[in-house]
Amino acid sequence: MTTITLHPDFRIGPLDRRIFGSFVEHLGRCVYTGVFEPGHPTADEHGFRRDVADLTKELGVSIVRYPGGNFVSNYVWEDGVGPVEDRKPFLDLAWRTVEPNTVGTDEFLQYCEREGLEPMMAVNLGTRGVEAAAALVEYCNGEAGTRWADMRIANGREKPYAVKLWCLGNEMDGPWQIGHKDAHEYGKLAAEAGKAMKLVDTGIELVACGSSSMQMDTFGEWERTVLSYTYDVVDHISMHAYYEELDGDRASFLGSGTGMQRFIERVVSSADAVGAQMRSDKRITLSFDEWNVWYLVSRFPGEKNLPIQRDAPRIIEDAYSGLDSVVVGDLLVTLLNNADRVAVGCLAQLVNVIAPIMTEPGGDAWRQTTFHPFATTSRLARGEVLDLRIDSETMATDKHGDVPVVTAAATIDPDTDEVALFVTNRSPEERTVTVRHPGATLRLGGGAAVLADHEGARETQEAAEAYGMVDALPVAHGDGEITLRLAPESWTAFSGALHR
Ligand code: AHR
Repeated sequence: MTTITLHPDFRIGPLDRRIFGSFVEHLGRCVYTGVFEPGHPTADEHGFRRDVADLTKELGVSIVRYPGGNFVSNYVWEDGVGPVEDRKPFLDLAWRTVEPNTVGTDEFLQYCEREGLEPMMAVNLGTRGVEAAAALVEYCNGEAGTRWADMRIANGREKPYAVKLWCLGNEMDGPWQIGHKDAHEYGKLAAEAGKAMKLVDTGIELVACGSSSMQMDTFGEWERTVLSYTYDVVDHISMHAYYEELDGDRASFLGSGTGMQRFIERVVSSADAVGAQMRSDKRITLSFDEWNVWYLVSRFPGEKNLPIQRDAPRIIEDAYSGLDSVVVGDLLVTLLNNADRVAVGCLAQLVNVIAPIMTEPGGDAWRQTTFHPFATTSRLARGEVLDLRIDSETMATDKHGDVPVVTAAATIDPDTDEVALFVTNRSPEERTVTVRHPGATLRLGGGAAVLADHEGARETQEAAEAYGMVDALPVAHGDGEITLRLAPESWTAFSGALHR
């Protein structure tokens, strides 16, 4: 039997809405024919697609990371500002694609402003360094009267953008990265770039690059070394993780949330070990600024094998199944349960590229299966994350060892006592869960679920559009406890109220 105990006084911490972030990279069709397509029937006066912006709103995205990803490590931001007709295309080596530079810093930041999104900018620490990074902060955030701020004003934007969140490069531990560095080289550069950036604007938050994945040979030592150089200047360390079903190992794929949990615990340990050694009271938080399901090993040919292309090529446009959406829901459960350490999360990416939203040039925009758990969690979760006690059976997996069959996270809005409860059943059988709520009265409404049993959802646009949340199995309220029935391989969201 599985039990979840929920007590209003036991809390992990406040929910930072920045965990509902996403990511727009100049990659494939994320920007061009994704968010931006002048001439599209729904395009606004700036050339951005209204249909995509509306879906982004419905998805409940808080922050958007930009402009990369691997792209940023060879990006010359100055080439993407100023009169569009004067901008020159360049060959982006990360994705071997001709970048027209039609969309750049101003277009993106003004889009965010119009749409109520918070930007998270990345600077190039691959082919560039301290000067270009500090100049970009000044361009974005500086007041009139200095070179780069005045350039922004000359480009038509008087008011500073006040961009708060900044990534010090991207995946600098990865040999595929343009300008890849070892941990010492990167740590020193990040510390100096970060120092200069904060001298331009003391109010910004900085993210140092952590490992590109927990599987990197340098994992652990990379975090330790990088933070030993940057501890005083940065606020967060990044984490990236992509999950996929490999060789038909469904159980390991369903257990991905446990893999994410271990990754988080290890990075927290590495960061805290550096802090302890420095006798520092500062606590580094985590920026999980790339996570998703990505059929990277099984379907992606590798950057080097891409032909040089122009005109927004179709790159890594993964189509998602019902199973993928259950895993995405479960990964969100893990992020919520680490609200005390994970400050930022970005579902990579927003449109077309391993994305919850797909588009056709000149045509429709629609939701993939993974859209639903993200939108639902972002809509229902608020306030504080509760510290649940979960007693679940375990299931064996090759990749993560024994993992809980049932996982859950819950939030409470302290002003209204509204509760949201998210529960995953990773097993192929229906499961019954007893929810205990000592010291308080809990009422849960009928929930809504995503089910794995929809392989076909990835086949066509119509099949993806037909996929959605379904009614959860009925909830039974008893004396001091509630009985939930969870469909096989499902992720379910319940909302209700918890009164003392
Ligand atoms: O999100 C796709 C790519 O994955 C990003 O460009 C890179 O940072 C990561 O390897």
